[in-house]
Amino acid sequence: MARAHTPQRHGLQGHEPQRNGPQGEVTRGTTAPNRLRRVDRWIAATQSGGLRAGPAPLAVDLGYGASPVTTVEFYRRLRAVAPRLEVTGIEIDPDRVAAGRAVIAGGAYEGLSFRHGGFELPVDRPPDLVRAFNVLRQYAEPAAWRAWDDLCARLSPGGVLIEGTCDEIGRRAVWVGLGGDGAGSARPRTITFAAHLATLERPSDLAERLPKTLIHRNVPGERVHALLTDFDRCWATAAPYSAFGPRARWIEAVSLLARSHPVYARPPYGGRGLWRLGEVTLPWSAVAPGDPPARSRRPRPGRTR
Ligand SMILES: C[S@@+](CC[C@H](N)C(=O)[O-])C[C@H]1O[C@@H](n2cnc3c(N)ncnc32)[C@H](O)[C@@H]1O
Repeated sequence: MARAHTPQRHGLQGHEPQRNGPQGEVTRGTTAPNRLRRVDRWIAATQSGGLRAGPAPLAVDLGYGASPVTTVEFYRRLRAVAPRLEVTGIEIDPDRVAAGRAVIAGGAYEGLSFRHGGFELPVDRPPDLVRAFNVLRQYAEPAAWRAWDDLCARLSPGGVLIEGTCDEIGRRAVWVGLGGDGAGSARPRTITFAAHLATLERPSDLAERLPKTLIHRNVPGERVHALLTDFDRCWATAAPYSAFGPRARWIEAVSLLARSHPVYARPPYGGRGLWRLGEVTLPWSAVAPGDPPARSRRPRPGRTR
């Protein structure tokens, strides 16, 4: 597990650009090999069409941490399904950018590069995909909503932001898939829960990995709370399936959940083949906060609030 030196600022309130500098703040650089395997597998399975299209597809790994290891893994996994894809790792900490560049020195990894920057995404064209994992949890909630808007506004048309969090070794993860609405705001589309089933006591254990925009919404009256409560109930009902292993129990619990929540039940986002991996994806509408304007945004021209 690579750990960065001293954490520099936490509970960040915003990400105003330093004058002429990257947007955002240096935060803890914790990372680990193979930690993001679940989300990378999901991206490769669900987004490869978009990553193969177009003359010069580009994916960004934003905030890769003290070691570039997860960026190199991201590159390898996505190039396996989209061989022309270019990948850029972006870090706001210059020492971490130097660590990335050291890995590609001498020409290893054609199409992989590292750049110093932040939410402004300093790349030469709008990316088709941005993965930002374990980055926004260290910001305050309004800043996380605003980062969603800012990042989605910089995607290519049809581009996707995958934003989420996981535990230290990637056994529990939750991520959101988003696009832009064409008017400068993010449009969240999907939410995915993924777990190592042999070590999961109950689905609501995943609540601690909710993205920053949802973590404070896991309270009675909010959709995400109702979803996780119902999922635990389905998990309990599915207990007899444990005799066939935790995967069988999860598949049964997800099937039961699908009776009352809009679980994706067919590929590429759903179905037994994916559920058996300990995954489930739903449309964002299944968890959308009842009162989204915890979202404090920078005023935009022509907008009155
Ligand atoms: C906890 S590490 C996550 C590393 C890796 N993505 C992972 O999940 O293992 C978060 C990293 O995001 C970087 N970071 C935070 N805000 C950023 C921003 N606005 N732009 C670029 N990097 C940022 C921090 O400097 C830190 O290295």
